[in-house]
Amino acid sequence: MSNNVLITGGAGFIGSAVVRHIIGNTQDNVINLDKLTYAGNLSSLESVSGSNRYVFEQVDICDAYELQRVFDVHKPNKVMHLAAESHVDRSIDGPDTFITTNIVGTYTLLEASRRFYMSLGKSEKARFLFHHISTDEVYGDLGTEGLFTETTSYAPSSPYSATKASSDHLVRAWHRTFGLPTLVTNCSNNYGPYHFPEKLIPLTILNALAGKPLPVYGDGSQVRDWLYVEDHARALYDVISRGVAGETYNIGGHNERQNIEVVYAICDILEKLRPDKPLGIQRYRDLIVFVEDRPGHDVRYAIDASKIQKELDWLPNESFESGISKTVQWYLSNESWWQQVLDGSYQGQRLGVI
Ligand SMILES: NC(=O)c1ccc[n+]([C@@H]2O[C@H](COP(=O)([O-])OP(=O)(O)OC[C@H]3O[C@@H](n4cnc5c(N)ncnc54)[C@H](O)[C@@H]3O)[C@@H](O)[C@H]2O)c1
Repeated sequence: MSNNVLITGGAGFIGSAVVRHIIGNTQDNVINLDKLTYAGNLSSLESVSGSNRYVFEQVDICDAYELQRVFDVHKPNKVMHLAAESHVDRSIDGPDTFITTNIVGTYTLLEASRRFYMSLGKSEKARFLFHHISTDEVYGDLGTEGLFTETTSYAPSSPYSATKASSDHLVRAWHRTFGLPTLVTNCSNNYGPYHFPEKLIPLTILNALAGKPLPVYGDGSQVRDWLYVEDHARALYDVISRGVAGETYNIGGHNERQNIEVVYAICDILEKLRPDKPLGIQRYRDLIVFVEDRPGHDVRYAIDASKIQKELDWLPNESFESGISKTVQWYLSNESWWQQVLDGSYQGQRLGVI
């Protein structure tokens, strides 16, 4: 039986990959609910928006009245909640929208889901699931050894990760207290096509192509565990299809890299794919500049993804090397997408310095 999947934040980076995955690979219907903030972009969905299994609702997750309407009209049996303010640097410049969207918005969505769930009959209730998409940043700074597991204590460092931690707790409380079938996934850093160019990987690619400086925070030694976004989208669909309510699943690619290694990798791929550089530039690596570190910057994140591998049989398809090559290639072939983003309010400026 096909599902009606309500996806919040479906016009964002990961949400749009989930929408493309579901429309492209399943018979499910998708309701994409998104406010279209600066980070939401419907052109990321052009390949699927003509499908008769796709509808778009421009709605704010803080708007209880509109959420009730969407639930009543579309009757979802799965909710995948990705809508959020997602950029750590912006949460340092202005935490208020993070508190509003990530905490109050998640609460409002939980209440709309609970109200709808309570109206369902027994068999419909059995098919209902609320999936909260979260980050490994809730676990805080890992230090040089070890991996985050599903039982690692929460210790968020940034306003962003503190709001995501709060929303994770709300989602678990709604399961325990109200019996709403919820589950949570915590994932490592994503990268890939349609990534908004304020984040490290797309910013580095686009600045290099323009012959602009490639800013690296601090000494670039911070370690992140990189996951190709389409591998994440597939994992999320596996979780919503076969995951167990009340559970948490960590998702990661076993691809730990220092930020500086990521920037070197992009420069080296561009040397091969785009050897003709802007005037006066010898090597892309010469564009690297080390800038003031992010306040409160966590040194290392790394995920133990063995639970989702064992219980749901999920493994990433891409290594860091294959994924980063695909990503650079995608940005070279899709200039109209990122040019339109750069023509908007964000032009690559540094954010998040106190
Ligand atoms: N990017 C990562 O590496 C990463 C890793 C792990 C988890 N996550 C989580 O995954 C989710 C998606 O991340 P992303 O990188 O795709 O984010 P994104 O910033 O690219 O997209 C967020 C989307 O949410 C929408 N949105 C924001 N506020 C809204 C509101 N009030 N109502 C409705 N829609 C709203 C935006 O318009 C946008 O389309 C987030 O919850 C994030 O915390 C991200």
